Amino acid sequence: MVETTISVIKADIGSLAGHIVVPDFLFEAARKSLKEGVNQKIINDFYVTNAGDDLELIMTHNKGEGAEDVHKLAWDTFMKGTELAREKKIYAAGQDILADTFSGNVKGMGPGSAEMVIEERRSEPIAIFMADKTEPGAFNLPLYKMFADPFNTAGLVIDPNLHDGFRFIIQDIMKDIPCFIEMKTPEESYDVLALLGSTGRYTIKKVYRADGMITASVSTDKLHAVAGKYVGKDDPVAIIRAHSGLPAMGEVLEAFTMPHLVSGWMRGSHAGPLLPVGLKDSRCTRFDGPPRVVGLGFQVSNGVLIGPVDLFDDVAFDITRQRGMEIADYLRRIGPFQPHRLAEHEMEYTTLPKVLASCENRFVEEEIVPKTKAKDTSESAE
Ligand code: 13P
Ligand code: 13P
Ligand code: MG
Ligand code: MG
Repeated sequence: MVETTISVIKADIGSLAGHIVVPDFLFEAARKSLKEGVNQKIINDFYVTNAGDDLELIMTHNKGEGAEDVHKLAWDTFMKGTELAREKKIYAAGQDILADTFSGNVKGMGPGSAEMVIEERRSEPIAIFMADKTEPGAFNLPLYKMFADPFNTAGLVIDPNLHDGFRFIIQDIMKDIPCFIEMKTPEESYDVLALLGSTGRYTIKKVYRADGMITASVSTDKLHAVAGKYVGKDDPVAIIRAHSGLPAMGEVLEAFTMPHLVSGWMRGSHAGPLLPVGLKDSRCTRFDGPPRVVGLGFQVSNGVLIGPVDLFDDVAFDITRQRGMEIADYLRRIGPFQPHRLAEHEMEYTTLPKVLASCENRFVEEEIVPKTKAKDTSESAE
C-alpha cells in the first residue's frame, strides 16, 4: 500500500487592488518554485491555486506531517513571491509573512497548513476546501454535517462502514500551547456541538472514522496570535477524503448548501454568509466579500494528483449563492451594529480598540446633563 502525505500550505503574500485576488505573476513564481521542489525530490506533485487573496500550495510527498524540507519549500516560495510582490508594490505584499527566518516549520510563522498522511486506497478521491475572509471555525458546521448529521450524510444511516460514526479531534485555539480533545459521534454529539458552536474558540483539527482511519484535516493557525495585532484573517483550508466507507463526495459537498454565517468579512470584523463558489468567482469584492469557499476535487494516485475538478462550479449551488447574497445584502444594512459587526471581544485584534481608547477617559460615574445655552431674554421683555 502506498503511503502519501498531502500538505496544503497557504499564505496571503499580496493581492491585486485590495484584498481581492492573487496576481498571475505570483502563481507563475509559485509553480516555478514547486517545480524545482519536484526536481529536487522534496515533493512528488503539486497544484497551485488561490482562494481570493490567499495563495494555496497543494502538495503531495512521502515525508509525513510537518516535514522540514516540505515546509521550507513552501516558506521559500512565499518569500520569493513576497519579494516580487514588494518590487511591484502589490497591495499587502507579504501580509502573512510574520517571521524573518524559517525555523523548521511554517507553524507560528504566519502561513496556514493542513496535512494528513494516508494509506492510498484502491481509489482515493479527495476534496481540498479553501476559504477566504473567514477563520478556521468556519469549517465547524460543514464538517459536523458531513461526519455526524444523518440528514446531510445518508451513508451514516445506510452504509455499514460509516455506521459506527467518527472521532473528532477538537482544538482550543485560544490556548497559547495547542490543546486538543477527542470526542466520538454519535455518542457524544451534544458535547461536540457544545464546543463546536463556539466557532472562534473550538475548531476541528482532524476527523477519524471510528476505526481510526484519517478522513479530514483542517488548518487551525491564528495569525493575530502570532502577530499580536490584526494582520488579516486566518483564512482556513481543509483536506477531506471521500467515498468507499467515508461520506460520498456529494455528501461532503451537500454540507456547504446552507450559506452559514462566519466571522472575517471586511477588516476581519464582520459576520457574513459563506458562499461556495467556482474558481472563477474566487475573488472577494463586495465589502471585501462576502466570505467564500472554493473546493477542488482530486484523485490521489501513487502520490500524484489527478485533476482537479472545480467542485462548486455547478448550477446546483446557484440557489445557495443566491440565498447567501440575499443574507449578505440584509446584513450590510445593519452596518456598524452587531451582529453584523462582531462582538467586542472578537474585535480585540482589530483597530477598534484604538478608537475606543480615545473615548475611555471621558466616561464619568454620574449621568451627564448637557449644559444649555443661557437664553437672551432682553427683546421679549419689551
Ligand atoms: P484577508 O484576511 O483575506 O487578507 O482580508 C483582510 C481584510 O481585512 C479584508 O477586509
Ligand atoms: P488599509 O489600512 O490598508 O486600508 O487596510 C484596511 C484593511 O483592509 C485591513 O485588513
Ligand atoms: Mg489580504
Ligand atoms: Mg484572504
